[in-house]
Amino acid sequence: MRAAVAAGPGGPEVLHVVEVPDPTIGPDEVLVDVAATAVNRADLLQRQGFYPPPPGASEIIGLECSGTVAAVGERVSGWAVGDRVCALLAGGGYAERVAVPAGQLMPLPPGLDLVTSAAVPEVACTVWSNVFMVAGLRPGEHVLVHGGAGGIGTTAIQLAAAVGAHVMATAGTPAKRALCEELGAEVTIDYREQDFVEVVREATDGHGADVILDNMGASYLPRNVAALATEGRLVVIGMQGGTKGELDLGALLRKRGAVIATALRSRPVEDKAAICAAVVEHVWPLVGDGRLRPIVHRTMPLDQVADAHRLLESGDHVGKVVLTT
Ligand SMILES: NC(=O)c1ccc[n+]([C@@H]2O[C@H](COP(=O)([O-])OP(=O)(O)OC[C@H]3O[C@@H](n4cnc5c(N)ncnc54)[C@H](OP(=O)(O)O)[C@@H]3O)[C@@H](O)[C@H]2O)c1
Repeated sequence: MRAAVAAGPGGPEVLHVVEVPDPTIGPDEVLVDVAATAVNRADLLQRQGFYPPPPGASEIIGLECSGTVAAVGERVSGWAVGDRVCALLAGGGYAERVAVPAGQLMPLPPGLDLVTSAAVPEVACTVWSNVFMVAGLRPGEHVLVHGGAGGIGTTAIQLAAAVGAHVMATAGTPAKRALCEELGAEVTIDYREQDFVEVVREATDGHGADVILDNMGASYLPRNVAALATEGRLVVIGMQGGTKGELDLGALLRKRGAVIATALRSRPVEDKAAICAAVVEHVWPLVGDGRLRPIVHRTMPLDQVADAHRLLESGDHVGKVVLTT
């Protein structure tokens, strides 16, 4: 099969499409003929050599895909050759074929075409598991989404608004903030010019954010804790601002707050299966009724994978960049 592989750690130029052996499936896995995959921020780190795949996962980059079931392992039930699916992957998406643990397969979201469906698994599973399963966002609560115009952010805003939360979002340009508002953010914040702690306090009459979804890590840690409401939950999912920060436990303790950091990719297969099942139950209906609309910035052929990485690295995109095989 054809697959995009990195010739070594480095810039986008190390990515090339080459012939590699087809994957083989285990008894609990399904072979998928990939129609499309999508680029995630973590892919850039893996290409640079900073984010190796978890043990047992494919060395090929790619955390999600859509496609058609080509073969089914002997212990798999519920899926058949020819089914159109999308999947959450630990790796292997940038290829014509991928082996997927059966629990990480999902039917296509209602009403979405095969290619667009590739943009949904990673963001839907990350946002649902963190904002709802971990942080327990409730209707009427205030949530701050950092990086509101990115792949994760555009999904988080829409899902939080759909359950009746009040959404605030940070973004770097006026056009990106306008998109956040269109998707349901009641308050948008220019993270380059404004102090988000002040804006959050003003917008919530001093209450603060009940939940914060954070992609920055260390550089935002003190300010995120300052922006939290009493009994607020800060969920760190990205470390674009570094890994080691200072945590004021006194401030956290007074607020009875929680700081949680999670990674989806390294979770056990059973956890991922439970998350995928929850996403199909809770998120797919919101796609069906139009409350969650995947934001696809651009769809490109897999041969242009290096340009797709350059685009994500530039930060000029909104939402997702999709690659077709
Ligand atoms: N832990 C997990 O399981 C998990 C899973 C998936 C993703 N993630 C993480 O989630 C983050 C988003 O991923 P993605 O795929 O959605 O990437 P993406 O589309 O490239 O989004 C990156 C976002 O970072 C924002 N950003 C950059 N500097 C910022 C700052 N100083 N303050 C606030 N926002 C800033 C950008 O905002 P502008 O474009 O407005 O500048 C953009 O929205 C990444 O850190 C990724 O590693 C974690």
